Amino acid sequence: MDLASHRFMSYFEPEQAAHLCQIAILESCDEETLVFEEGETADCLYLVLSGEVEFSKRLENNQYQTIAVAKADAYFGELGVLDGEPRSARAVAVAGSTFAKIDREELIKTLQSAKGSAVLEMFSFIIQKLRDTTDQYVGQFVHKQKMVLVGEMVSTIIHDFKSPFTGIKLSSEMLKEMHPDEESQEWCELIQLQVQRMLGMAEEVLEFSRGHSVLHKKPVNLIQTLQQFEKLNRVYFQAAKVDMVIRVTEVIVEADENKILRVLQNLVGNAVEAFGGRGGLVEIAVTQSEEWAEISIYDNGPGIPEEIKEKLFEPFVTYGKRTGTGLGTAIAKSIVDAHKGEITYESEEQKGTTFYIRLPKIMALAEQV
Ligand SMILES: Nc1ncnc2c1ncn2[C@@H]1O[C@H](COP(=O)(O)OP(=O)(O)OP(=O)(O)O)[C@@H](O)[C@H]1O
Ligand SMILES: [Mg+2]
Repeated sequence: MDLASHRFMSYFEPEQAAHLCQIAILESCDEETLVFEEGETADCLYLVLSGEVEFSKRLENNQYQTIAVAKADAYFGELGVLDGEPRSARAVAVAGSTFAKIDREELIKTLQSAKGSAVLEMFSFIIQKLRDTTDQYVGQFVHKQKMVLVGEMVSTIIHDFKSPFTGIKLSSEMLKEMHPDEESQEWCELIQLQVQRMLGMAEEVLEFSRGHSVLHKKPVNLIQTLQQFEKLNRVYFQAAKVDMVIRVTEVIVEADENKILRVLQNLVGNAVEAFGGRGGLVEIAVTQSEEWAEISIYDNGPGIPEEIKEKLFEPFVTYGKRTGTGLGTAIAKSIVDAHKGEITYESEEQKGTTFYIRLPKIMALAEQV
């Protein structure tokens, strides 16, 4: 947008607006640009003409938390300009943003001679902005508290489960020794694998609540991963009347296999739950291009409810389940993101849902070097 049609100019008489346009300094950012840092002197007001500026506050651990965003036709930096206090947050413009800077003294002079309605308009904009920022901040705060709570709960669960898990493991080892026949051996191994898996899942949630996934990457043949997945879930699928079809060619990716198994578990688990006991079809296929290995997971269930489609991968978004925590897809996304991959989905009511997980192949090679 051009400067003369910016909302801030509409607050003033034509001559005052023309004067502000004349003294404004236009700036454009070719790349991500620090506009000002928290604590700096507030010497001008910024009118956003295009692009986006993100505001964040420094946290104790030297990280930044985003508190607001300003887009074209918004303005920022007015609080420090009006009360003379230093900047209360850091502002960073995305590449391609343009804005106009108006010097503090010139602005104050113009405001002093402007009619009351200009000041009122400015106030109502500031109040709206404070409201939005507060809402966003409270939302983020509640989210963080929930994560802390999840983390504490899971730590307790892991702690308390360790001794019964050790008991199950030892018992199955004894059974293995007592019954050397092939079938008993297989069942005992399955018991041990499942126990291991339960601990792994709990640790996964713990890592997620702490905000980072620790990957133990190695070359993984997705054929074996999917065979393992099928073996671990055979009994579960039978009980839920699920037909599982796996179509896979030999594809090797550099990945944390246990974590990929948990992505599959979360997504296939959702499909099975969506069948609601009536059973259905789940098809997992692996294809590849030069750059990507793609795992698609299709189910012919009822589809993702419209109400949550836009927020599906956000934590605590759940729908239509009595015991859903809304963490399954969020954890899946955090794992895929940690692999520098992509997760998307297509879903149609009463027709079914397909999730697509893309894992980079080129990246893996580059990382090995
Ligand atoms: N394949 C699917 N078919 C239909 N709905 C789905 C499917 N996958 C996810 N959903 C919907 O998306 C919601 C969010 O899924 P997500 O796995 O993130 O959480 P959840 O399953 O509710 O809880 P949790 O996985 O933590 O036990 C589900 O509650 C369900 O309504
Ligand atoms: Mg789930």
